[in-house]
Amino acid sequence: MCGIVGAVAQRDVAAILLEGLHRLEYRGYDSAGMAVINGEGPIPFVKRVGKVEALAQALDTHPLPGKTGIAHTRWATHGQPSEDNAHPHFSGSLALVHNGIIENHSELKQRLEALGYEFVSQTDTETIVHLVHHYYQLQRDLLSAVRHAVKDLDGAYGLAAIHADQPDRLVCARKGSPLVIGVGIGENFVASDHLALRQVTDRFVYLEEGDIAEVTLGHYRIWNEAGESVTRDLTQIDAAAESIDKGPYRHFMLKEIYEQPKMIERSLLQRLGKTKVLAEALGPHAAPLLASVSSVQIVACGTSYHAGMIAKYWIEGIAGVPCRVEVASEFRYRKFKVQENTLLVTISQSGETADTLAALRLAKTLGYSASLTICNVAQSSLVRESDLFVMTEAGPEIGVASTKAFTTQLVALLLFTVALGRHHDIDEATEANIVKALHGLPRLLSETLDLDADIRAMSKAFAEKHHALFLGRGVQWPVAMEGALKLKEISYIHAESYPAGELKHGPLALVDSDMPVIAVAPNDELLEKLKSNLQEVQARGGQLFVFADKAAGFKESKGLDIIELPHVDDIIAPIIYTIPLQLLSYHVAILKGTDVDQPRNLAKSVTVE
Ligand code: AGP
Repeated sequence: MCGIVGAVAQRDVAAILLEGLHRLEYRGYDSAGMAVINGEGPIPFVKRVGKVEALAQALDTHPLPGKTGIAHTRWATHGQPSEDNAHPHFSGSLALVHNGIIENHSELKQRLEALGYEFVSQTDTETIVHLVHHYYQLQRDLLSAVRHAVKDLDGAYGLAAIHADQPDRLVCARKGSPLVIGVGIGENFVASDHLALRQVTDRFVYLEEGDIAEVTLGHYRIWNEAGESVTRDLTQIDAAAESIDKGPYRHFMLKEIYEQPKMIERSLLQRLGKTKVLAEALGPHAAPLLASVSSVQIVACGTSYHAGMIAKYWIEGIAGVPCRVEVASEFRYRKFKVQENTLLVTISQSGETADTLAALRLAKTLGYSASLTICNVAQSSLVRESDLFVMTEAGPEIGVASTKAFTTQLVALLLFTVALGRHHDIDEATEANIVKALHGLPRLLSETLDLDADIRAMSKAFAEKHHALFLGRGVQWPVAMEGALKLKEISYIHAESYPAGELKHGPLALVDSDMPVIAVAPNDELLEKLKSNLQEVQARGGQLFVFADKAAGFKESKGLDIIELPHVDDIIAPIIYTIPLQLLSYHVAILKGTDVDQPRNLAKSVTVE
């Protein structure tokens, strides 16, 4: 969501901070700001509404020299995007940046106003900076001031603070919002995501919940919530695995769509034998843990939730294990009974989604037998806090619209289905069939991507539309849901999805010649049922756009556009049929001229509730 970067170095830090913000911009982006210590007194700063580029231009005319600084990109929660609301926030000679939401900010504000503090923004963050300032007046030490202040906070925070009277020093703290220390040589950094610091270091220390750290030129020290000095692991990250440029592509989203065959091949590496999923696929601890699982609860948000919906069809239909799927923001506030031996599975690209993480933490108190996460970020909170993890190996996903993370999640979920099914309904022949289909998947994905030109031509029919309806049946229904989410997210066209059999129970009333209806139609056992549903649309003059198996027997006619896909095994059809829907939404967004990689009002990683 919002992004934090901080640096204590022996050189000017503004350029480092700015590059870090550029790299974080995909997470949150309605305003940005930077403050760099340059002598005593109030810390000089620059803030701008809009993208990081606006801040970069302002820094050309108002440079910020100095060797200790903090910077932030904001995605508004409390108060509109404005320079007053942009971070850093200030109190006397103190500057602070913050991610997260402080739930008791109103009470704190009253308390601080009574102490004489004046507020200039509508943010919850401003209460933290005044609170730290208040304790600093008593303690004269930034570390103990932050330590006292965070005790008064209810809610989530990742924060970094600097004080002009204590240059060469930065204090940071995390609870509910990620923070990482980048370890340099004679200089150190902090950020909310290690990607922000890849240009200056490849060594990272991830703070844990409740940690407070002091970062100086030559060292960093960490204390846990109880105030004990602690050591956290140092992780070295392979630079080659993490390129984050667009290459020859116009947008990250397009690059990431085209990366899918390669990333899926990578995610299958060392996990598939000739006819079997290898025992190591889910890690050495998986088998004993899965042996006792008798039901599965999946929790996720957005696209990751759709992956969970598809997995339910596999886990129940192939592995023979009861499975429930719920969006995390509902799961965490509902009362229910947990059945014995239920495995909690979270799915998340980022591993930092606030609701999903809260659901995992809640589940640990509710009697689930164990937790497994399917995740794309190895150093994320979900991976660190789950009993088991399966990495999706999609590489960094920068476009806000999730594409390769989704299809690699599906691959990981299929591997999980097999591993679980071995203790239930999956026999050798079924496993061999799934493995064969997975081996052929990268090639079939490439063939499907070859349909791009036809899909681009089809997209013209959507440019002037305000609504669209996506239909699928069975396991293709969540594929349709994902297609509708992609279209609404990046083209701002209102899109709904329905299981096609539900059409006549209401949504059919929406269908007229102005309503495009998109259907996904592999040659599966529900094809004939789907065809009848589509006839209901045609009979009402609806405009049909069908992605169909070559052998499905559709014929183009007035009001019926067909794009034929290669014939694929039912098991991998949800992965293949996702591709044309991603390309369709991309091309429609291009025609509409929207900001494809950073659609309005959205952020890549939703680390606030
Ligand atoms: C998908 O295109 C979205 N950007 C969004 O729905 C996303 O999948 C959701 O916020 C969950 O994120 P996560 O996978 O990082 O947990």
